[in-house]
Amino acid sequence: MIRTEIGIDLNKAKLLLDSSDIISIPTETVYGLAANGKDPMAISKIYTAKKRPLSNPLILHYKDASSAFQDITKIPKEAKVLAENFWPGPLTMLLPKSESIPDAVTSGKSHVAIRVPGHELCLSLLNTLDYPIAAPSANLYGRISPTSPFHVYEQLNSRIPYILDGGICEKGIESTIIGFENDNLFIYRLGSISIEAIETCIQKKVHVKDKVEDNQAPLASGMVKHHYAPYTAMFNIVEKNKEKDLSNCGFIGFDTLHPDFPSENQFLLSETGNIDAAAKELYRSFHVMDANRFKSIYIEFMPESGIGKAINDRINRAIQKYSA
Ligand code: TXA
Ligand code: MG
Repeated sequence: MIRTEIGIDLNKAKLLLDSSDIISIPTETVYGLAANGKDPMAISKIYTAKKRPLSNPLILHYKDASSAFQDITKIPKEAKVLAENFWPGPLTMLLPKSESIPDAVTSGKSHVAIRVPGHELCLSLLNTLDYPIAAPSANLYGRISPTSPFHVYEQLNSRIPYILDGGICEKGIESTIIGFENDNLFIYRLGSISIEAIETCIQKKVHVKDKVEDNQAPLASGMVKHHYAPYTAMFNIVEKNKEKDLSNCGFIGFDTLHPDFPSENQFLLSETGNIDAAAKELYRSFHVMDANRFKSIYIEFMPESGIGKAINDRINRAIQKYSA
């Protein structure tokens, strides 16, 4: 059995990655499960540790835009503009890959997902490496994404040797994934960068393509209906009347306590009504509330402004599992 250590030793992190091992790394969105992105053997360990299907490709993390674009064969002008504006930061772009990217990263697809993470410790690590880091979120497949080293430990303890501790993730929701088809831009996963911010930057409408239609293989795992779900059944607060007794149920709300639940059973995402603060707390609220072993958890949707849309997307997926 592997002993999992949590620490801030960049050199140790580098040595493990250099020797084809996998470790967890902090980013500004969620913790990642990292391997040398040019080493298929190391990459295969990610899939085993996460119990993730091999058909589900990984994001490559680079130290800067110019090294990222070196692995791309055709760069649309909007991609350059977006990189200038949002990197380092929570924007992932799907672009045609060059031969230098192993098929293990993209599950054989022609396009690779790339981003430059906006987290100081993560960038310091990337700067010591001569390869990009392949990393999905550091949770078991289909479970809640980790926003602290302890969340990683809970799920991957004894599966990985090291968790690089970069504190609590600043954003708390995964990166926005954008792709280019002919002259159009599509968002494949709502995330920390809002649609409005992207449209303002490129002065062009972007389309959202993350609706999962049944019988259609989803493009990205984040698009699977019941992703990001806690073990405890989670429902939309509007369904609370089906419960006879709410004293054994939890409530996750935005900024106001709910009169029908005991106050100690409640988790407010932002008492001051700040949507960015709510995003940062969302997955932690799932982890904390799940550990309470309530009969059910009820949750309300957030205001749709800014990152609110992405939060609501994750809430929707968490409750879908139980409302299906
Ligand atoms: O914020 C984030 O994006 C975090 C941090 C660690 O960077 N990473 C993350 O990775 O959320 P993951 O693997 O949990 O989600 C990445 C999504 C998956 O749904 C995957 O299917 C999709 O991106 N994806 C990656 N490469 C792709 C490709 N070549 N084509 C289509 N979808 C791709
Ligand atoms: Mg994930």
